[in-house]
Formats: sequence, C-alpha cells, structure tokens
Amino acid sequence: MKMNSAILDSTPKYINDQATALTRARYQRLSTIYDGLEWLMERRSRPWREKLWQFVCGPRVLEVGVGTGKNVEFWPLNCKITAIDLTPGMLDIARQRAKNLNRHEDDLFLADVQHLELPSAIFDTVVATFVFCSVPDPIQGLREIGRVVRPGGQIVLLEHVRIDRPVIGTLMDVLAPLIVRLSGANINRRTVENVHMAGLQIERVEDLDDMGMFKLIFAHSMA
Ligand SMILES: C[S@@+](CC[C@H](N)C(=O)[O-])C[C@H]1O[C@@H](n2cnc3c(N)ncnc32)[C@H](O)[C@@H]1O
Repeated sequence: MKMNSAILDSTPKYINDQATALTRARYQRLSTIYDGLEWLMERRSRPWREKLWQFVCGPRVLEVGVGTGKNVEFWPLNCKITAIDLTPGMLDIARQRAKNLNRHEDDLFLADVQHLELPSAIFDTVVATFVFCSVPDPIQGLREIGRVVRPGGQIVLLEHVRIDRPVIGTLMDVLAPLIVRLSGANINRRTVENVHMAGLQIERVEDLDDMGMFKLIFAHSMA
C-alpha cells in the first residue's frame, strides 16, 4: 500500500471545525511540555501500552493520535505502521522519536481521524491510546477507524473513561470542562458506549484498574 503523503499532509478538512481547531490548539500549546507533564502517569501507563501492542496483528497497522510517539518503542518490527495525529507539534516530536528508534518517520502524517482521507479496509489493525477522550466527535472518529480497518481486522484501544460510580462520576462531570481546557482531555467520556454507538462490534473490554477508569477495548468492524 502506498500512502499519498501529499494528500495526507495537505490542509485537513477540520480547519473550519471550531471544536477540532480548538483541540489542535490545546495540544499544540502543550506539545513541548507534554511528556514532562505526563511523566508520572506514564509510569503507570507504560505496562498497559506494552500489553496492548502484544495483541496487535499486522502487517498493516494504523496508529491514530500518535501524540509524541510514546508507543513507537512498542511497534512490532514485522509490521508496517502508519501513524497520524491532528497536531503538528505533537507529530514533530513523534517523528523525531521514530527516527531515533530507526523507524520510518515518513510514515507519520498530519490527519484528522474524523475525516481520514484514506481508502476503506486497508489496515489489519487500528490502535489508539488515550485519544478518544480528546477527539471532538469521538463517534465519528470511531466510525472512520471502522471504515479503514479490513473486515475481520481488529481495533484495539487503551482509554480512560468516566468512572461509573455515583459520587466520583458526578465529580468527573463537574471537573471535565476545566480539565479539557487545561489538558485537551475529557475525563468523563463514555468511550465503551461510543464504540458501540459507532457501529463497531465489541469483543471484550478489560479493566486495568480497580475503579474501571482505564480500559483496554477490543473491537472490530461489523462490515
Ligand atoms: C492525550 S494525547 C495521547 C497521545 C498518544 N496517543 C499517547 O498515548 O501518549 C491525544 C492525542 O490525540 C490527538 N488528537 C486529538 N484529536 C484528534 C483527531 N481528531 N485526529 C487525530 N488525532 C487527534 C492529539 O493531537 C494528541 O496528540
């Protein structure tokens, strides 16, 4: 499969979408300090990332919302990985990380998961880690990954979600507007339900913590 980088790197459609432009502006602002801010959380997440990538089947893999490239070290060597992100600053850091790890930095593109300018059914697996908390229209983004994964291919997500307990869930709802402004992430997303609403078939959901906040979600396209 030959990716057309000229198309993927051209001005994406989201430019007129206010919410998407705002998301990009937030991550652009944070991009140079993002890894430092996430340092403590990353100590917890790293084993989860490692676990997720053990389930990834190639050879053609799309990583959505690659961010600063924290997953690059786990990319299987026998897979052809394409990675996208909405935010140029995040992508620049991911490209450098890929280069340092001898992966093809040219396979990382600026693109919006809500409007992927890619043919249908071209990937064996689509992966995203901590992305659908920040995509403005997560259901549209999830529909798009369902379109580009081949029938029978897999979708593997590592996400934090709204905790389904009365007091703490309500507290997350109250704090969400402030936290999204500061970090770009909605802490009260119901991503498992969103996967279902996007028309994807959920195979299983694995809770990674006692509160049910961090989850590995395995799904596939119904097409
Ligand atoms: C919380 S960061 C996670 C980054 C990385 N996946 C990780 O695990 O560290 C969310 C990332 O999703 C990207 N993102 C948000 N909305 C997006 C969209 N519509 N399309 C593609 N990427 C998006 C942001 O630019 C940001 O890099």
